[in-house]
Amino acid sequence: MALSSCPPLSRRFILLAALGGATLGGAALAGVAPGHAADTPAALPRIGIIGAGQVGGTLGRLWAGAGYSVMFSSRHPDELGQIVAAAGPNARAGTVEQAIAFGDVILLAVPYHAEPGIAHEHGAALAGKVLIDADNAYPFRDGAVAREAQAEGVARYSARLFAGTRFVRAFNSVNASSLADGGGGDTEVIYSYTDNAAGAIVAALIKATGSIPVRGHDL
Ligand SMILES: NC(=O)c1ccc[n+]([C@@H]2O[C@H](COP(=O)([O-])OP(=O)(O)OC[C@H]3O[C@@H](n4cnc5c(N)ncnc54)[C@H](OP(=O)(O)O)[C@@H]3O)[C@@H](O)[C@H]2O)c1
Repeated sequence: MALSSCPPLSRRFILLAALGGATLGGAALAGVAPGHAADTPAALPRIGIIGAGQVGGTLGRLWAGAGYSVMFSSRHPDELGQIVAAAGPNARAGTVEQAIAFGDVILLAVPYHAEPGIAHEHGAALAGKVLIDADNAYPFRDGAVAREAQAEGVARYSARLFAGTRFVRAFNSVNASSLADGGGGDTEVIYSYTDNAAGAIVAALIKATGSIPVRGHDL
């Protein structure tokens, strides 16, 4: 995507990341740009959420509460009013397409069997974005695609489905209810990534939920 076609906030975030801010363990995301005085605010990445159920709804509310701008989406965006209201003024709802366009970071929190369709329909729009995949693959729920993913390794299978994104697998290993109160400071969230800068961004987002990022296997 050409930088000139990004919204101003996204543009600032991309420039910051390009300068290395996003690789500094989230320092830039905490509001301090590297090489700048602490009173120089840096843009937080905007977050688009695909799937506003237990995982998407919970994480979106926590991130909105931490100051991130969030757009929830599902196949029925007109039904997300309560979730948006609960998340407060930093949250809004839209279509999946709108959430992808909105976010610098996209959270995928849908039943695993929806992944191939979303990759097919939105792969081009997702290219270059940080994609957090929270989905688990269960054959009893998700059918053949879950069996294929388990045979290959679910993270690798999804990373391949969403090739072109800056893919990070995270939040799969924790129950949404253990994050619901903003974390007690002791919930460990494993994250695995294909891109160091994307990993640092997601580590900061895990901390923003009140949890502890724990690096998983390389993808
Ligand atoms: N619940 C947990 O504690 C937990 C923990 C770790 C991982 N996970 C995994 O995270 C994923 C989400 O779990 P969840 O418990 O949050 O599920 P959920 O409560 O059932 O929510 C799923 C959401 O996905 C939306 N959705 C379904 N198909 C979609 C599609 N094709 N495009 C866009 N949105 C779609 C649904 O809304 P519409 O029907 O309106 O589209 C709904 O908002 C699953 O893969 C699950 O295994 C869950």
